[in-house]
Amino acid sequence: MTKIENTRPVGIFDSGLGGLTVVKAIQQALPSENLIYFGDTAHLPYGDKSKETIIQYSTGITDFLIKRDCKVVVIACNSASANAYNEVVNKAGKTVPVINVIDPVVEYITETDSKAVGVIGTKSTIDSNMYTEKIHNKKKGVYVASMATPLFVPMIEEGFIFDDVSNSIIRNYLSRREISSIDSLILGCTHYPIIKNQINKFYNFEVDIIDSGKIVAESLRKLLVEKKIINTATEKGHNKFYVSDITRYFTLIARMFFEEAIELEKLNFWK
Ligand code: DGL
Repeated sequence: MTKIENTRPVGIFDSGLGGLTVVKAIQQALPSENLIYFGDTAHLPYGDKSKETIIQYSTGITDFLIKRDCKVVVIACNSASANAYNEVVNKAGKTVPVINVIDPVVEYITETDSKAVGVIGTKSTIDSNMYTEKIHNKKKGVYVASMATPLFVPMIEEGFIFDDVSNSIIRNYLSRREISSIDSLILGCTHYPIIKNQINKFYNFEVDIIDSGKIVAESLRKLLVEKKIINTATEKGHNKFYVSDITRYFTLIARMFFEEAIELEKLNFWK
């Protein structure tokens, strides 16, 4: 591989601002990489869409990222990872690898001593049963309890994060029987790390809360090393963010995430 190829950007996408939790972790683990992020805010939430629709949006975004010369595609969305991974891999083609957010987390959890795993996510992720199947394929005998928490994404996208509204919704969902008696909880939606502190508080810090950010960033690092396409530059990478619709809280929450102002552009290639 030539050095030129190593500077090609890493493409990352989500339905909205949830994927920023993955971007943040990638930035910390791989500061030299150039990143292109696409948040499909015009079609959010993906969590209540059909498989066909999620495939249509995800492959459309992949096409865009490939045209922008991305060297790898990171599906920073569980709903898209659960419903459109194969189609995204096909669209990306043989030369551009794809990372989803589910496999690295499954790998991670099955290497821990956890015996009772809870999984929360959007309806489309939970209905796919992907986490349960993949965990059981790797490790028999682990108890997996999963539950959809569909109000979390609109709550976060609307900026209800550190207040009574979010606390009461979190309490209501997490105190349900379906998800009781667990020793670890997978945040099966990339939006949820934004409310990780409140979730930790709900459990009195007694349940191990697992979010995909760092785990996925580490898996990306390994892949870039293995494929010899890691950016070895010493300066900080350039990051460009696209959204299909400008929403009030995207900019606000993005500002909360990154110290400096981000380069954000509206781009709706479906229109
Ligand atoms: N952040 C996305 C996920 O990880 C989904 C949010 C949505 O429903 O659009 O599943």
